[in-house]
Amino acid sequence: MTTTMVSMSDKQFNDLRKIIYERSGIHFPDTKKYVLESRLGHRLGELEMETYDDYLAFLTMGPYQMDEFQEMFNRITINETSFFRNEPQLDVFEKKILPELLEARKGTKRLRLWSAACSTGEEPYTLAIQVHRTLGVRLADWRIEILGTDISEKVLDQAQTGKYTDYAVRSTPPVVKQRYFRQDGPYWNLDSTVRSMVHFELHNLKDRMAARRFGAFDLIMCRNVMIYFDDTMKAQVLTTFADQLAPDGSLFIGHSETIRPGTTPFTSMPISHAFCYRKSA
Ligand SMILES: C[S@@+](CC[C@H](N)C(=O)[O-])C[C@H]1O[C@@H](n2cnc3c(N)ncnc32)[C@H](O)[C@@H]1O
Repeated sequence: MTTTMVSMSDKQFNDLRKIIYERSGIHFPDTKKYVLESRLGHRLGELEMETYDDYLAFLTMGPYQMDEFQEMFNRITINETSFFRNEPQLDVFEKKILPELLEARKGTKRLRLWSAACSTGEEPYTLAIQVHRTLGVRLADWRIEILGTDISEKVLDQAQTGKYTDYAVRSTPPVVKQRYFRQDGPYWNLDSTVRSMVHFELHNLKDRMAARRFGAFDLIMCRNVMIYFDDTMKAQVLTTFADQLAPDGSLFIGHSETIRPGTTPFTSMPISHAFCYRKSA
């Protein structure tokens, strides 16, 4: 097996990042060549390949190209997340958006939330905890569907276990840890009722048509992934969200991410310490 780091020429970098962009919308700027080199170097070793030309051929022409794309996404995506990440936004969801939605949906008693690009599941499970503690005993009367999707199979496999480390729960209030987790050595096992409220599916945000299978949502949360997209991909993703969001639904994006006014089907709604977006009238 090759152990030395295989170097990537500028042409190989351009070819590779073009393929990655076409398949996922993830944009690697010129300054990020080292990221691909460091993350894929080991993969070349595993495949016993000596050049990135071999890898590019394997990725685009080989019989296992779809599997290799998945393998590559598992390695090149940034999966940083945690329970209760960016609490001001989650407070707005729990104290304002959720009560309004529960009131608006009291006729159907059905609520559908989508955590798009959910990584290892902390975000959709946080929403589930918030819905659970808000509804309390009324939960049994409601049909709550929370979907978590990601492009990487590996993170979704991890999400389904409901088993987390200290790092994942570092921003979780102690009272929540006590009520919704069971500590098992170094792990925190999430409560099974909360786990059963969330369903995970592999989904690439680049794939507009495939999102239609999910139906309409009352809330879409897509945080800390659009920073890896260029403006074209961002616009495509936001159009998909507009298609999949109920007319009175809300969209949350990462607190450091922005949607330029007038460029998308969304209008920003500033609320106390955070903001969310609604479909423009
Ligand atoms: C930094 S994590 C964000 C997790 C969570 N939303 C949060 O804010 O804590 C970004 C996730 O986006 C996923 N991702 C990147 N490109 C994607 C795409 N085209 N479609 C779906 N997910 C994607 C990555 O696999 C990764 O798990």
